[in-house]
Amino acid sequence: MEANDRITASNLNEEEEGLELSLRPKRLKEYIGQKSITENLKVFIEAAQMRKEPLDHVLFYGPPGLGKTTLAGIIANELDVDLRITSGPAIERAGDLAAILTNLNTNDVLFIDEIHRLNRSVEEVLYSAMEDYALDIIIGKGPSARSIRLDLSKFTLIGATTRAGSLSAPLRDRFGVVSKFEMYSIEELKEIIKRSSEILDILIDKDSMTEIAKRSRGTPRVANRLLRRVRDFSQVRGSGIIDMMITKETLQSLGIDEEGLEGLDRTILKTIIDRFKGGPVGIDTIAAAIGEERITIEDVYEPYLIQSGFLHRTQKGRVVSDLAYKHLGLGTSGEEQLIL
Ligand code: ADE
Repeated sequence: MEANDRITASNLNEEEEGLELSLRPKRLKEYIGQKSITENLKVFIEAAQMRKEPLDHVLFYGPPGLGKTTLAGIIANELDVDLRITSGPAIERAGDLAAILTNLNTNDVLFIDEIHRLNRSVEEVLYSAMEDYALDIIIGKGPSARSIRLDLSKFTLIGATTRAGSLSAPLRDRFGVVSKFEMYSIEELKEIIKRSSEILDILIDKDSMTEIAKRSRGTPRVANRLLRRVRDFSQVRGSGIIDMMITKETLQSLGIDEEGLEGLDRTILKTIIDRFKGGPVGIDTIAAAIGEERITIEDVYEPYLIQSGFLHRTQKGRVVSDLAYKHLGLGTSGEEQLIL
């Protein structure tokens, strides 16, 4: 399957991207879930505004699709400043970062997604920018080289990463606020689906909202995507109002099971069971066996498999749980069980 066909894929096509943007809440009061993060932020934002200072630098970490970029946008809106969005891999040289930083206005927000992928030389420029709102630029080469200091406007950096452990300590230490994003509860996802249905003018019954929420792997991006796919099926095959029949048909057609697992999740579990006796097995071995990148498995698939108790991460490697055997209809020794 191509990455774009996957319900968990983080890259969207242009149309989906537009829809996704229209669903993003713009203000804190519209944002559902992540309560401990948003309640603290509310205080920090208000305090910064009272002092007429920039908000302290913020680091968001956690699995993809949980609303890190959305919340960065909300922070900029609440502060009534401009938001500039970029990503670690997009900033190739120190000069690229200098160009971005020198164009920021007072108290603006700079959002760097995948901040763990910044290269070293860029990261070093960021240190003085974060700490002193200044850039140290080396002019010339050899013995006549000298360094000049360029003052920047005060700004807030919001960094986002799926892997906080990959951030260097000096960078991590320069964030005044560090927030971990948790997966959403079914209730929260139901609320998000209800809100999205209203925005997109979709008629959907309560049971269908619950069903989509249950199968969204704790992730609003997945919930919104499933809602759009169910709407497609309903438009073509159904009566216009989304009910359980059309919801189940859609989910089945997409290969999404009752627990929200999709094809690749099941392939990961089955590969560990069939080829490695259920584990423990190293992540690189699993990646090679199924022909996927280790990072994709670790960042995109594993968090939900672990959260829902299908997979354990141990010192010796990944181990499939009894729950996974049961879910896949297998005995714990791996043979298929007759389901009567
Ligand atoms: N859409 C995507 N994420 C959301 C969230 N956390 N709250 C409200 N709507 C959302």
